[in-house]
Amino acid sequence: MYNDKKTKSRIRAENENDRSPVKSILVLYSYHHHNTEKIAKVFAKVLDAEIKWPKEINPEELQEYDLVGFGSGIYSSKHHESLLELVDKLPEVTDKKAFIFSTSGAPIAIGGQKTLDDYAIKCHSLLREKLKAKGYRIIDEFICAGFNTNSFLKLFGGINKGRPNVEDLKNAEEFAQNLKQGTNGS
Ligand SMILES: Cc1cc2nc3c(=O)[nH]c(=O)nc-3n(C[C@H](O)[C@H](O)[C@H](O)COP(=O)(O)O)c2cc1C
Repeated sequence: MYNDKKTKSRIRAENENDRSPVKSILVLYSYHHHNTEKIAKVFAKVLDAEIKWPKEINPEELQEYDLVGFGSGIYSSKHHESLLELVDKLPEVTDKKAFIFSTSGAPIAIGGQKTLDDYAIKCHSLLREKLKAKGYRIIDEFICAGFNTNSFLKLFGGINKGRPNVEDLKNAEEFAQNLKQGTNGS
């Protein structure tokens, strides 16, 4: 029955309608070396999303989006205060999709974590819990190294020089492609 050409094209058309474009936005805070902004720009291109800073967001407006990415550098083991404060002001939502991203200037072995992913679990936790409490479903998380000249590090040229690098940007693109194709548990 499904070999009939007309039925096939009708099924395809219906599926295409199901794949309505996902309206996405990125809420970003990035200041130290604009490391996280570099990642956000890659996401924005793939997802056809605009980038706004927390101060530009009216908490109600995020309701209009199907997918919201929240990201910043990691400062004192968490996302930037302005992002966390914005999330506190957001209205509750029902099963809205979000993802979290960051760049981190930590040497991997900090605080006993073996990999940057382990560190992300820890330093994304405050934002993750705040978003979950508002009803957001976190479909994926991204972290990569970022150039860090904070405090005494600047005395010897900083760490993670050149990061995010080409490979980090490629990973970011792949991550966003997966979000777009809905293969991240969405
Ligand atoms: C004040 C300050 C505190 C920081 N604290 C941490 C930290 O606790 N853990 C970490 O991994 N990186 C830390 N960093 C490094 C930044 O996370 C890293 O450089 C990041 O890529 C900066 O992102 P941005 O350029 O988008 O602001 C800190 C940087 C600054 C300026």
